[in-house]
Amino acid sequence: SKFESLLDRVAGSDAPDMADILALLNASGAQTQALYRRADDIRRARMGDGILLRAIVEFSSRCSRDCAYCGLRKAHRQLKRYRMNTAEILASVLEAASSGIKTVVLQSGEDDTLDPFWLADVIRAIKSGTQMAVTLSVGEKPQEVYALWRGAGADRYLLKIETTNPSLYRRLHPDMDFDRRLECLRVLRELGYQTGSGSIVGLPGQTAEDLTQDILFFKRCDFDMIGIGPFIAHPDTPLGLEGDGDIQAVLKVLAVTRIVVNNAHMPATTAVGSLEEDHRLAALKSGANVLMPNFTPQPYRQAYEIYPHKRCLTETSGACVPCMETMASAIGRCVNYSRGDSLKIKV
Ligand code: SAM
Ligand code: SF4
Ligand code: FES
Repeated sequence: SKFESLLDRVAGSDAPDMADILALLNASGAQTQALYRRADDIRRARMGDGILLRAIVEFSSRCSRDCAYCGLRKAHRQLKRYRMNTAEILASVLEAASSGIKTVVLQSGEDDTLDPFWLADVIRAIKSGTQMAVTLSVGEKPQEVYALWRGAGADRYLLKIETTNPSLYRRLHPDMDFDRRLECLRVLRELGYQTGSGSIVGLPGQTAEDLTQDILFFKRCDFDMIGIGPFIAHPDTPLGLEGDGDIQAVLKVLAVTRIVVNNAHMPATTAVGSLEEDHRLAALKSGANVLMPNFTPQPYRQAYEIYPHKRCLTETSGACVPCMETMASAIGRCVNYSRGDSLKIKV
C-alpha cells in the first residue's frame, strides 16, 4: 500500500524528508497500527526482545532553574527539597545492584549549589564498589565539571533538548539558553559520554512541525539514547491549567523515532506510565526497549514530584523490578539484565 511504501522510504533513508515524517505523524486508523507494528519490527530486529533495566535514583530535588512545566522548578516554594547523602545514595545503588541491575541513573534538579567534587566522589564510590554503568542526569554544567565526572568514571549522560523549536524553548525556559543546551550536548559527546537526549510531546503551543524537527534532530545528532514522554500538567506551575499531552501523539513520535533512528536505546518513560492509565506496555510495543525501575527510597521518592500522579510513587524501592518482570512477560518479552551499552560503534 501507499502507507507501507512511505514506511519503507523513511526506514531506508539517512536523511528522511520532512514531509514524509509529518505524514507518518498524521497516520490515522489502520495506518497507526501499521506504524506501531513497523517500529516494533525494527526494535525486534535491532535490539531483540530483552527489555533493558536502568535503575533511577532521584538523589536531590533541589533546582535552580524555572522550567515552566516542572514541579521541581525553583519558584515552587512549597515543595519539600532534599538531597540524599553519600551513604543513602550508595545504599540505593547497592540495592539495585543486588537485584541484578547493571546501570544506575543518578538524577536531580539542576542545582547550582551541588558540589561537583562531592558527586565525583559518589561516582568513584559506585564504580569501585560495583560493576555498574553510571548515568548522570543533573542538567547543564560547565565543560570542566562534565570532564571531572567523566574522569571519575561516569559512563553516560542524559540531557533532553525538550523541544527543538527555539522560540517555544525560550518561552518554557525564560532563564535558560537553547544554544547553550546544544553546546552541552556537543561537549558531552566529545568527552566520550554515551549521550541521551529526548523531548516532551504535547507542550502547550507545540506543533506537528515541531515534533517533526525533534525527530530529525535526534537523527542528525546520532544520540545513543532517546527519551520521549508526554507533557503532564503540574498544578503548581504556570502550565497547571493546560491539558496533558495526548498518548497517541507520544506513541507516534516514539514509533517514528524508532523507524528513523534504529539503533538508539529508547525507554518506555515514567511519564508514559503516569497519564490517567499506564501506557508503558504500549510504548514497549511501539519501539521502546528500556524500562526504568525507581530505586529512590521513601520519603524522598514522594518529594520528587516532577508532575502529578507519578507512577510507583508510594511503592518501596524494590517493587519495580518484579513488576517489570510481569510487564515483560505480559507482552511475550523478557527482562535483559545486561549493562545495555550503546549499540553505536565507538572508535
Ligand atoms: N534537572 C535535570 C534536567 O532538567 O535535565 C534532570 C531532571 S528533570 C526533572 C528530567 C526531565 O523531566 C526533564 O528532562 C523533563 O523532560 C521532564 N519533565 C519535567 N517536568 C515535566 C512535565 N510536567 N511533564 C513531562 N516531563 C517533565
Ligand atoms: Fe529543574 Fe530539570 Fe525540572 Fe527544569 S526540568 S525545573 S532543570 S528539575
Ligand atoms: Fe514501579 Fe510497577 S513499575 S511498581
